[in-house]
Amino acid sequence: MKKINLGHNGPLVSKLGLGCMRMSPVWGGKGQDENESVATIQAALDNGINFLNTGDFYGSGHNELLVGKALKGRRDDAFISVKFGGIIHGGRFLGLDLRPIAIRNFIDYSLVRLGIDTIDLYQPCRLDNVVPVEDVIGTIADLIKEGKVRYLGVSEITAEQLRKAHSVYPVTALEIGYSLAERTIENDLIPAARELGVGVVAFANTAEGLLSGDLATPLAAGDYRNHFSRFQGGNLVRNLQLVEVLKSMAKEKGCTPTQLAIAWVNTQGNDVMPLVSMSRRSRLPENIQALDITFTPEELKTLDTTFAPGAIAGGTYLQR
Ligand SMILES: NC(=O)c1ccc[n+]([C@@H]2O[C@H](COP(=O)([O-])OP(=O)(O)OC[C@H]3O[C@@H](n4cnc5c(N)ncnc54)[C@H](OP(=O)(O)O)[C@@H]3O)[C@@H](O)[C@H]2O)c1
Repeated sequence: MKKINLGHNGPLVSKLGLGCMRMSPVWGGKGQDENESVATIQAALDNGINFLNTGDFYGSGHNELLVGKALKGRRDDAFISVKFGGIIHGGRFLGLDLRPIAIRNFIDYSLVRLGIDTIDLYQPCRLDNVVPVEDVIGTIADLIKEGKVRYLGVSEITAEQLRKAHSVYPVTALEIGYSLAERTIENDLIPAARELGVGVVAFANTAEGLLSGDLATPLAAGDYRNHFSRFQGGNLVRNLQLVEVLKSMAKEKGCTPTQLAIAWVNTQGNDVMPLVSMSRRSRLPENIQALDITFTPEELKTLDTTFAPGAIAGGTYLQR
């Protein structure tokens, strides 16, 4: 597994990250098979994927407990990234709590659930207008001084917020939704991260499965994606037409559309890490192999034109 520095002169991490969120029942319902989830984390570590992403609100701590279980006896194999601040109850997002007093409470619970002394990358899941950025980032800076955190991260913020946060304390990584379907951040946020030397941890590479090539319209009645305009009516019909281009390119190249979606993110630069959800070991070989896929200039042009920023109709929870 290729390693990269996360951020300018930052820690060495794998080029591919493992997103653990979907192993837990974040929005209610049933989670994945726990034994298989733990085995997936361990198999990822065995394959050199050391970057693990979790959040204290993923399944109300369930996700951190899973990661903690997988890490028993091998803490040093992993670089652990934790988000905090999201308040979820009964499968519903109720808002944020970024008060310094809350952050101090959150981190102590996270450390216990993970069974570790220090979190490698600690990040507010969002910022808001309630608690000043200085207070949120300042609290994490204090936790770094105290040895409970190693590096500061941020998630889903604007270029302006990134600059502000970085002025309070150096930001190591920006976690952000980035894919062929989600490119408007190329205008200002990615350039700002590059200018500041902040690593880009890119999640939702498959755009909620849209780019996997497995979707058909309409989605099943109970599918959570029906809530997002991107997956509704004419938008979904149009979007799936664009995905046909990805499917035929994948067929020509002898790979899967998901691999192409991950490969495209991967080729955006050495400062960009595809962070991919996998809840079963069988996903690992396909997604690891995606890092070896290269594109000809013509193929890149086709993807760039088909999936130009704004080409995908409708939004998800990641409204830009
Ligand atoms: N900062 C934020 O706001 C934020 C928001 C969302 C997510 N995240 C983080 O980013 C990670 C990734 O995000 P995501 O889950 O939204 O996007 P994703 O990586 O695109 O995953 C979406 C789905 O793709 C499936 N998948 C994985 N490999 C596949 C393959 N080879 N073929 C077909 N399907 C495949 C996964 O299924 P299986 O699980 O069944 O393997 C998963 O359900 C999360 O785990 C979480 O850690 C952060």
